[in-house]
Amino acid sequence: MTPILETRNLNVRFGGVHATRDVNFSLAEAELRCVIGPNGAGKSTFFKLLTGQVKPTSGQILFRGRDISNMQPHEPGRLGIGIKTQVPSLFNGLSVWENVWLSARRSNSTEQADRITRETLERVGMLSLRDATTGLLAHGMRQWVEIGMVTAADPPLILLDEPAAGMSDAEVARTAELILEINRRHALVVVEHDMNFIRIIAKKVSVLHQGTILMEGTPDRIMSDPLIQQIYLGKKPH
Ligand SMILES: Nc1ncnc2c1ncn2[C@@H]1O[C@H](COP(=O)(O)OP(=O)(O)OP(=O)(O)O)[C@@H](O)[C@H]1O
Ligand SMILES: [Mg+2]
Repeated sequence: MTPILETRNLNVRFGGVHATRDVNFSLAEAELRCVIGPNGAGKSTFFKLLTGQVKPTSGQILFRGRDISNMQPHEPGRLGIGIKTQVPSLFNGLSVWENVWLSARRSNSTEQADRITRETLERVGMLSLRDATTGLLAHGMRQWVEIGMVTAADPPLILLDEPAAGMSDAEVARTAELILEINRRHALVVVEHDMNFIRIIAKKVSVLHQGTILMEGTPDRIMSDPLIQQIYLGKKPH
């Protein structure tokens, strides 16, 4: 079966820095994959390649078999790729409901958008705060509203950059559960540092190191590997 997302010998050089080296990545339809790696491993660069913010020096990115290597940054949404970057893209002055509704309305009628917004806010646990001003919410809640915005557009593939960053343990656990729930309908790639999160998700992990995929496997296998432990030594995964 054609993977929903694939990269073939993907490379990026920034001057003398070889930030992405021959990355061959493959995500099946409906799969959830976590991408981890130590500081400077190339996680953000890989994410930006998948979202069209960085262009490959060589190699290909395929979405359902279609070459999207030269995609412009405004194109992923139209193709069916939902993105949550680390920089929030919420409308702070609008309510929680309005933020999600605007996203749902893009490809739906007003009535459908109402229904989708309600379902989405229920799923992310924010329905009781539907009228709250988004800019006044705590960090974790803002992340959930943003995840809601991404899912409300119903893209087959969702890319999340460090969704659990800056969260408490309880919020990390809640976010991991939410992502597992979202995975029932969407394929996901989640770049994440937080080992707690990776453990709760317990799906296949790709480990980036020095720009390339060093290892892939379950979190248990990855974390018990001596090489991985050595790479993370000195900067213990938090
Ligand atoms: N625009 C750029 N110009 C030059 N070098 C860059 C650029 N972006 C990234 N790099 C370099 O590429 C390498 C990979 O960086 P990247 O930010 O992708 O790593 P990361 O895994 O996201 O790290 P972190 O965990 O610190 O966020 C690093 O050596 C970084 O300095
Ligand atoms: Mg990064």
